[in-house]
Amino acid sequence: MSDIQNLKTEISQQVETANDLQALEAVRVATLGKKGSVSALMKTLGKMAPEERKTQGPLLNALKEDVAALIEKQEISLKKQELDRRLQEETIDITLDPRPTPQGKIHPISQTIDELVSIFGAMGFKIAEGPDIEDDWHNFTALNFPPGHPAREMQDTFFLPEDTRENGEYAKKLLRTHTSSVQIRHMQTHNPPIKTICFGRTYRSDWDMTHTPMFHQMECMYIDEIGKVTMAHLKGCLEDFVRNFFLIDDLPVRFRPSFFPFVEPGAEVDIGYYKNGNAIQLGKAPEGQEQKWMEILGSGMVHPNVLKNCDIDPTKYQGFAFGTGLERLAMLKYGIPDLRTFFESDVRWLGHYGFTPLDRPNSATGY
Ligand code: PHE
Repeated sequence: MSDIQNLKTEISQQVETANDLQALEAVRVATLGKKGSVSALMKTLGKMAPEERKTQGPLLNALKEDVAALIEKQEISLKKQELDRRLQEETIDITLDPRPTPQGKIHPISQTIDELVSIFGAMGFKIAEGPDIEDDWHNFTALNFPPGHPAREMQDTFFLPEDTRENGEYAKKLLRTHTSSVQIRHMQTHNPPIKTICFGRTYRSDWDMTHTPMFHQMECMYIDEIGKVTMAHLKGCLEDFVRNFFLIDDLPVRFRPSFFPFVEPGAEVDIGYYKNGNAIQLGKAPEGQEQKWMEILGSGMVHPNVLKNCDIDPTKYQGFAFGTGLERLAMLKYGIPDLRTFFESDVRWLGHYGFTPLDRPNSATGY
């Protein structure tokens, strides 16, 4: 009994004098560890006579628990001392710059879409959507491309394997060559007035500085009762759009008659630029300099056949549509020389031409 008492006193002194966690661990190993003094005593229980074990057992178990409790108490106290010391000693220099966190960049195409949504949203246009994989009817036939007509060859189409069947009928699937197919889908499911814009990927078999097999288009469409949406509205809408987008109030805009099967009359739209050394400068040419023009979009009054194909009565309704390439707009506005670089996924390119998130210039705030 007194042996146990002595051992306990001895251990408790050791615990108290252990003044760091390492020293305390050494005490724990020397007492409760496999070869520790307390563990050694516990082992003697097995060899005792039953009577002796009855009295010694509880005493030894109590010793073991007491020692464990002492060590734990000291450990908590040492940890607290350590924390207090660190709180005393360590200071935070709040004048230091924060570490730079890597920030993603907004791709110029996404930025362009954001800006266009802001411009057309302010004019009351809503966003419409359609699939990238289209059928021949939505991409061509409904848009007044006659079967076998060379107009179908105007756009080099990627066709899907020809065995696709839909509802038992032959249906040739393709990657849409323009977003005009979205007009068709929207007119089939909505009644006029219709006032939509649509953004999306489009596909043509082309590859050079200004063509990639996948690119983005925007399509705009406004249909209402006859007389409410005229060619004059088309012109006004387009002028507002390009001047707002390029942030040039007097940007010259020119309409040139042109052919697209789905509009009548049809017009291509050019914007004015001039040469500044070797660089292209959008805007009105200064006195004595040649005014040059570049085509940026196709437009026109929606062809009566297209309205009919979508069950809209062309004797009651009319409207305009136009379509344009987003890469082209972005290249001109942000001075990006090569279209192919848009899709190379080079982070250095994105670092240079990309935009800071949430930094979204719009027609209301400007830059
Ligand atoms: N879909 C035409 C193209 O891709 C553009 C366009 C749209 C022209 C709407 C007129 C009206 O070239």
